[in-house]
Amino acid sequence: MNISKWIFTILIVSLLKPQISIGVSDLSKEFLDFAKKDEVFDWMVGIRRKIHENPELGYEEFETSKVIREELDKLGISYKHPIAGTGVVGFIGSGEPPFVGLRADMDALSMQEMVEWNHKSKVPGKMHACGHDGHVTMLLGAAKILKKHSHLLKGTVVLVFQPAEEGGGGAKQVVDSGSLENVKAIFGLHVSPGHPVGQVFSRSGAILAGSGSFEAIITGKGGHAAIPQHSIDPILAASNVVVSLQHLVVLSMLSRIPSPLAEPLELFLKEVSRNSGNVIIAQATVHRCNATVEFSTKAKPFFPATINDKGLHGHFQKVAGDVLGVENVKEMPPFMGAEDFSFYQEVMPGYFYFIGMKNEKNGNPASLHSPFFELNEDVLPYGAAMQSALAVTYNHDHNT
Ligand SMILES: *[C@@H]1O[C@H](CO)[C@@H](O)[C@H](O)[C@H]1NC(C)=O
Repeated sequence: MNISKWIFTILIVSLLKPQISIGVSDLSKEFLDFAKKDEVFDWMVGIRRKIHENPELGYEEFETSKVIREELDKLGISYKHPIAGTGVVGFIGSGEPPFVGLRADMDALSMQEMVEWNHKSKVPGKMHACGHDGHVTMLLGAAKILKKHSHLLKGTVVLVFQPAEEGGGGAKQVVDSGSLENVKAIFGLHVSPGHPVGQVFSRSGAILAGSGSFEAIITGKGGHAAIPQHSIDPILAASNVVVSLQHLVVLSMLSRIPSPLAEPLELFLKEVSRNSGNVIIAQATVHRCNATVEFSTKAKPFFPATINDKGLHGHFQKVAGDVLGVENVKEMPPFMGAEDFSFYQEVMPGYFYFIGMKNEKNGNPASLHSPFFELNEDVLPYGAAMQSALAVTYNHDHNT
């Protein structure tokens, strides 16, 4: 081998090197730069405003589903539809394992938007007041990032556009559809109006509460208000039930019964349903009424608590640190909201986190589920980059 051939070889190797050795950490940073490019940002803003103008309630997300599918078609991403009615599950990568899931919820809330702006909800009484329009957009943003870098991906990223998070338990339907059977882990996010843009918040273990509803029937005996001694008043009994149930919260604070913020949560759920049932029946008895209590999951599914997988916590911290800088990755205390993301976590390791979107111009931003809620569109590139980086790194680390 002569010198010139050596030089030639070295030259080739050094030319190839940046491509071959590009680490996933560098890639994670690159994702954010890409998502912040004007053309990508403006594209996301356009999608978000279109969905915001036409909010649809759980299991009725027909137009939202159409917007998602049109964008996936344009990106050349294959998908399954319908999943759970209006849901869409897209696939990017080799079609081979490992499979990692990214989830966005699609539904709006039944409330009237009170924010006056150019892209206000055009549907009376319906509004994206929980930021799901942003969540869908960020997942489409992640899809664009992943498609653009698909030659560097290992395995397959599964994009889960899920209907009916707001009480409908769409996540359960998606799981039951069997379309996520090969998926080994899943990531979900939620915008947070009170936290700065560029920061993420989460914790290992229990992050969100469970939620459920019960039906209590209190039976008395009707009568005339002027002769109350001849009637048995169920309203008085019910009023006392309401007051007494509040007392359970105090008891949990005093550790007389398990606290909702302490693990194990199953214990709290068992105890709280038993105690609530007892309180209702006892209070009814005091007022000479009869009562039945049923913790029904038929009308409204019981959402389990959202419990972040401990192994994925380390993964999240590392990736979020790469994308945003370690100083922008924060721990948070458990929050008493509930999420149907927990249904995914029942069948696979899952990780849920909050992403800051505080509008610095607005000192007192409206909370989630407020008719004055405003999504700060500056969050879009951060969510898109975070989700895509979490997926790419996961598959990179789990590729065998
Ligand atoms: C409660 O149930 C008992 C037993 O069925 C019945 O005798 C009584 O009348 C009921 N009381 C009311 C207020 O409905």
